[in-house]
Amino acid sequence: MSSHFESVPEAALTGSLRDFRSPEGPDLMSRITGFYDWQNLRREHQLWPYARSTSTAPTAHCEARSDIGEAFSGINFGSQDYLSLSSHPALKEAAIKAIGEYGVHSAGSAALLGNTANSLLLEQGLSEFLGGREVVLYPTGWAAGYGSVQGFVRANDHVVMDILAHSCLQEGAKAATQNIHYHGHLNLDALARKLERIRSADPDNGIMVVTESLFSMHSDTPDIGAMRALCDQFGATLLVDCAHDLGSIGDDGLGHLGLQNMMDAADIIIGSFSKTFGSNGGFIAVKTKAAAEYLKYYSATHTFSNALSPVQAASVLAALNIVRSEEGRTLRRKLMDNILYLRAQMAKAGLETLGDPSPIVPVRLGLEGVGRFASRNLMALGGIANLVEYPAVPQGGARFRFQVMASHTRADIDQVVRVLAEAMHNADIEYRLGHEGQSDAVSGATAAA
Ligand SMILES: Cc1ncc(COP(=O)(O)O)c(C=O)c1O
Repeated sequence: MSSHFESVPEAALTGSLRDFRSPEGPDLMSRITGFYDWQNLRREHQLWPYARSTSTAPTAHCEARSDIGEAFSGINFGSQDYLSLSSHPALKEAAIKAIGEYGVHSAGSAALLGNTANSLLLEQGLSEFLGGREVVLYPTGWAAGYGSVQGFVRANDHVVMDILAHSCLQEGAKAATQNIHYHGHLNLDALARKLERIRSADPDNGIMVVTESLFSMHSDTPDIGAMRALCDQFGATLLVDCAHDLGSIGDDGLGHLGLQNMMDAADIIIGSFSKTFGSNGGFIAVKTKAAAEYLKYYSATHTFSNALSPVQAASVLAALNIVRSEEGRTLRRKLMDNILYLRAQMAKAGLETLGDPSPIVPVRLGLEGVGRFASRNLMALGGIANLVEYPAVPQGGARFRFQVMASHTRADIDQVVRVLAEAMHNADIEYRLGHEGQSDAVSGATAAA
């Protein structure tokens, strides 16, 4: 530990990506270097935990490298493979078979010649899973989220969205209209007030209400029935992004839409394959053929981007078959068992988890500086979880995002909670004592400990 009690410049413990978002000056390339300097300062002190790469499959135990090539390994709670399907033999077999039949590339947009028999079967399977909706596939979940708003909303329309809606939804809205209205996270009264104001001022244009069924940084969920009622009252269209809970939550895998018995409530459902379905890709599910056909030619990320590769389509189809099977049900039970056990063990260790039980378990760290030390310590102690900082979460609300998989064992969980508690305990001390100019006091504290 003593080597960690070093003097760390304040700038490496403060600041955020937001500081460099709007650089000014005529030279686009030179005005951005401040970010690189700040990033390197953090790197020098091993406080830059981003852009890491795995050297093995992203399984419960994994080997990885930092973005400057330093090797580390540990119990992995930093990958989003909730049912552990990405290394499942059925997915691997489907992928290999698809390569044999199709090669590795779709070689075209789905609006042209990019579909394969597997992508068509995937659309059909998802349609059945979602109760008969029309499904349109996208190359990523991000592309689906962006395309769902950009595809339907026009300049005079309005988008009303939860302040924490995912970047893909926010960027899609920005591309579509300037009439974007944010409401407080999960705040239905604020949503109602916005809708009332917008509708009374503008009876003629569309309103899209945008939310997520499981928020990915907070692990919480809106009351979808209440949102549907507000949409009905004010003539709005409801979009729900179920990237994180579809397939992983609920006995039947239908996520919070299913748990709340609200499968029909959303006009538009969007999802990602990258959390539960073992591969990149995404989809939009709508209620009519007309809406699906419109998306195919008017949502840019479908029309003007190459389709899912044959490997992705075959892998996701194999994953969907598992998600819908008894095996999927068993994996979801195992996953939820792990989630509840992880939360319980963290509480016993005095750690504060946020939100509701889901494959995302946020753990409060607080100040960004404390979070950066904790992240460095966790990695050194053999635990892997992602650090989330402002602006992805509120300032001073840094957290670890643990992502639980069905393949974690109780021994993995016990071990990671042990090292997490140690990592956080040491981070508190390091933060208090480790600021620049405090190194003498730190040495004294270490000696006394
Ligand atoms: C809520 C939400 N929507 C969409 C996406 C984008 O999905 P993908 O990573 O598959 O592009 C993500 C994942 O990062 C997400 O959390």
